[in-house]
Amino acid sequence: MAITQAPRVRSGALPLRTYRSTGRAAAIAGLGVYAPEKVLTNRELERMVDTSDQWISERTGIKERRIAEPGTTTFELATNAARAALDDAGITARDLDMILVATSSPDGPFPSVACRVQDELGVPGCCAMDILAACSGFAYGLSLADAYIASSRVDTILVVGAEVLSRLVDWRDRGTCVLFADGAGAAVVRPAQSGAGFLSWCLGADGRGYDKITCGDVPRGAYVAGDPRPFIGMKGPDVFKFATDIFIRQAFAVADAAGLTMDDIDLWVPHQANRRIIEAAAQRVGLPKERVMINIDRFGNTSTATIPLALRDALDQDRLHAGDKVLIAGFGSGLTWAACLLEWE
Ligand code: ACO
Repeated sequence: MAITQAPRVRSGALPLRTYRSTGRAAAIAGLGVYAPEKVLTNRELERMVDTSDQWISERTGIKERRIAEPGTTTFELATNAARAALDDAGITARDLDMILVATSSPDGPFPSVACRVQDELGVPGCCAMDILAACSGFAYGLSLADAYIASSRVDTILVVGAEVLSRLVDWRDRGTCVLFADGAGAAVVRPAQSGAGFLSWCLGADGRGYDKITCGDVPRGAYVAGDPRPFIGMKGPDVFKFATDIFIRQAFAVADAAGLTMDDIDLWVPHQANRRIIEAAAQRVGLPKERVMINIDRFGNTSTATIPLALRDALDQDRLHAGDKVLIAGFGSGLTWAACLLEWE
């Protein structure tokens, strides 16, 4: 039986902030993805570090992931996904008013990946910027797109999540190298045809958890002179607890903000960080597995790209239809979180 009451907030947990979408409604009008060709299986990882297919499968749900060839840039993956999203929406890059790229692995501190994507698409002029909210970044980007369209300032926004995390992984560290992977996804956001689209949001951050998932020597600054290169570090069990808790609480919060309950949710598309986190949270909120999208087995954790990769798979597997109520949920380094409820067009 579905649980329709939100669990009591744990002592010390921050109250979550939610809001409803207001003004002109916005919706996802096109979705595109790009994954590098090279597949890295758990069996291959067994030959690289002291691990096993059984450990990785049981603890994370990952069977294989895509890894970019050395020298591949984040903007290349982002541009490929962007082109696929534009095709899917039936528009050209000239229609874009704004390009937002969420990434945890930019090609450098600046210029932004978004400006490189704009140049690749050959459409100088429109606003372009990057968003750094780690794995919550794609949903943060969607929230900005929703707000800009609601204000009627612009009509067409490209939101991209793109990562070459393999550059930031210490391939000697079995605790992280089995998790992270490369990939990209993009959405075209436009005024909703049906008048529905994005309904409600739950976004937040808790900087007290800044040291839970890091890249570089964060206490002294992210890029410290002398570091050969920054590596991803993670307090895995702490992140596991935070992630399960935030998934549960934000699901109830965002549904409540839209005046809905878990029974109304047709598909939950969570950030793909660990299958056990997703399944534990789904059980607590009362969502059966046919209403939960999981594709971490094929792609691993691609940070900002997991949600568009999962949305694309849901469409291709005929699990997502016009009129469906979709719950998108992310969490990540920062610590950050972001969820939204939308009616699919
Ligand atoms: N293969 C074999 N053994 C391993 C591996 C591996 N790849 N990695 C760790 N181990 C070992 C550890 O060394 C430890 O051994 P010990 O008991 O002898 O010390 C044992 O397995 C248990 O380690 P834990 O870290 O406690 O294992 P846990 O069950 O917590 O699983 C995991 C680790 C998968 C990282 C889990 O904590 C997790 O998923 N946490 C959340 C991660 C997450 O969400 N990351 C993304 C965050 S945000 C973002 O997306 C960027």
